[in-house]
Amino acid sequence: MAETMKGLKRTNRCGELSKANIGEEVTVMGWVQKQRNKGGIIFVDMRDRAGLLQVIFEESDCGSENFAKAEKLRSEFVIAVVGKVEARSGAVNENLETGEIEVRAREIRILSEAETPPFPIEAESKTKEELRLKYRYLDLRRPNLQKNLKLRSKITTTIRSHLDAEGFYEIETPMLTKSTPEGARDYLVPSRVHPGNFYALPQSPQIFKQLLMCSGYDRYFQIARCFRDEDLRADRQPEFTQVDMELSFVDVDDVIDTTERMVQKVCKEAIGLDVQLPIARMTWQEAMDRFGSDKPDTRFGMELKNVSDVVKGCNFGVFTGALENGGSVRGINVKGQAEMPRKKIDALVEFAKGYGAKGLAYLAVLPDGTYKSSFAKFMTEEELKALVSAMEGESGDLLLFAADKNKIVYSVLGALRIEVAKQLDMIDNDKFNFLWVTEFPLLEWSEEEERFVAMHHPFTMPMDEDLQYLDSDPGRVRAKAYDIVLNGVELGGGSVRIFQPEVQEKMFEVLGFTREEAYERFGFLINAFKYGVPPHAGLAIGLDRFVMLLVKADNIREVIAFPKVKDASCLMTEAPNVVDEQQLRDLQISLDLADTEKSGE
Ligand code: AMO
Ligand code: AMP
Repeated sequence: MAETMKGLKRTNRCGELSKANIGEEVTVMGWVQKQRNKGGIIFVDMRDRAGLLQVIFEESDCGSENFAKAEKLRSEFVIAVVGKVEARSGAVNENLETGEIEVRAREIRILSEAETPPFPIEAESKTKEELRLKYRYLDLRRPNLQKNLKLRSKITTTIRSHLDAEGFYEIETPMLTKSTPEGARDYLVPSRVHPGNFYALPQSPQIFKQLLMCSGYDRYFQIARCFRDEDLRADRQPEFTQVDMELSFVDVDDVIDTTERMVQKVCKEAIGLDVQLPIARMTWQEAMDRFGSDKPDTRFGMELKNVSDVVKGCNFGVFTGALENGGSVRGINVKGQAEMPRKKIDALVEFAKGYGAKGLAYLAVLPDGTYKSSFAKFMTEEELKALVSAMEGESGDLLLFAADKNKIVYSVLGALRIEVAKQLDMIDNDKFNFLWVTEFPLLEWSEEEERFVAMHHPFTMPMDEDLQYLDSDPGRVRAKAYDIVLNGVELGGGSVRIFQPEVQEKMFEVLGFTREEAYERFGFLINAFKYGVPPHAGLAIGLDRFVMLLVKADNIREVIAFPKVKDASCLMTEAPNVVDEQQLRDLQISLDLADTEKSGE
């Protein structure tokens, strides 16, 4: 039988004791990190969320009964210790916050015994993540994860108090709702009361927050859970958290200013980082032209160059063919890498193909003035010189080119730029480069659906000067939409919303929704707007991504207590899982799994 805490009250957390407490009698409680029995003396490292503490047991201090208990301690036992804080008798441990002291125990109670854990609980774990996620409650004992979740808590507290001071109300919106317009696949929840009907979990609180503006709440925020059934990546989870905001009577600059102040405050409070305001802004077009990405990592250069004009008259069919098809030829200059081995270049070509490239043309400017190239033979010396010069190439540089439709060229070179920078260790990990990307295209042509789809969502306001093209040339209309980017990660995004019914109807028309379809999906919003709607705008920051970047983790699982893995399952609870026959009968749902298998899912 385990002992109880009866008669004891914790006085301090283990990791919070210091030299200042020397001489005090304390009661601490926590987990055994390690026990070392040196014969007449036993050392125990105790751990709680505040840190580690060394406890010393000698029979002359604590008596034989307590000493016997100390002898049987093993890792992860939960204990309570009463004792006196002393200066460390042995060598001071500089790696420990409490390294200058120890507690000489007078009494110990074993509150809970523990089986040997499947992996050791230590800051930097070498254990495979699958095993750690299966036993996430043990993994969460690791100081690194505790530090991350502590910081996350501090960040949400900072956000709440900051937004409160800026006049925002925190308002919750439903989880059981109707499909929201973010464009990913919905998670559905069957209704028992309405057989055959389903709720959708919100992909974002988008429609509700716009309705709150209609209702006069003026400034809303929510630390909102969102659900999207999409492919997982390092910075994507099926359920994640947004710091979601909406403001009335504002335009682009107001949302940007408000967000910047919040981001600045969070960075300062969380990690002591000073963010200089205003954060730099770049239009979407400039971001694509210079970085091949709408979320540029500006911590390094190696920017894209458009060489279409330089190569348009050459004899290299790959280049001229792309231009004839309305595409472009662009390149990046990998400084000083002319001697990159062929094998490595070939690997980059394969990498580029992964992003839709048909190939990757290269030109190495060798120190002796000659070239090593996949296409130099198709060009005159003069054309090559002009090309090298357009790329600001010098002796020793490696130039890489993609020729295709713009969309592919951007995506190939944008990804290649990052990949090469990683391989060559060109990225300064101590930098925090924030950037606003503005003036996104309103619409994007979907080859699959053969129609325009909203780049952000269908309520995004066109830029005033482009409104006139909504009918005649929808593809060129830019939106009052903006993203905030940190170190090449899309941290958040938002837009000014359409509030005039005529514009909204036009927008639905361009998107190919009939009036009926539009009402079917968003009727309550369209109707609400008929009763007096303020101009409004908003934005949502991905909280998980923000915390991930601030703690320099490379995966959002490191900042989420109970995350899911790539196939969207939880290894600990084994969700999703089968349900009882009775539950299915209640819902009037019958399964047809054979068919699913046939369709290859
Ligand atoms: P958006 O879809 O751009 O905008 O989402 C806003 C931010 O949420 C984060 N995010 C994610 N984080 C983790 N896992 C995911 N699967 C995931 N998907 C998105 C990103 C992203 O920038 N309603 C609009 C906002 C608005 O217009 O006000 C919206 O949801 O950091
Ligand atoms: P090919 O004529 O297909 O043998 O290609 C000659 C060179 O051009 C090879 O180095 C290819 O990798 C490269 N290449 C092919 N297609 C493209 C493209 N769309 N953009 C850039 N380089 C390409």
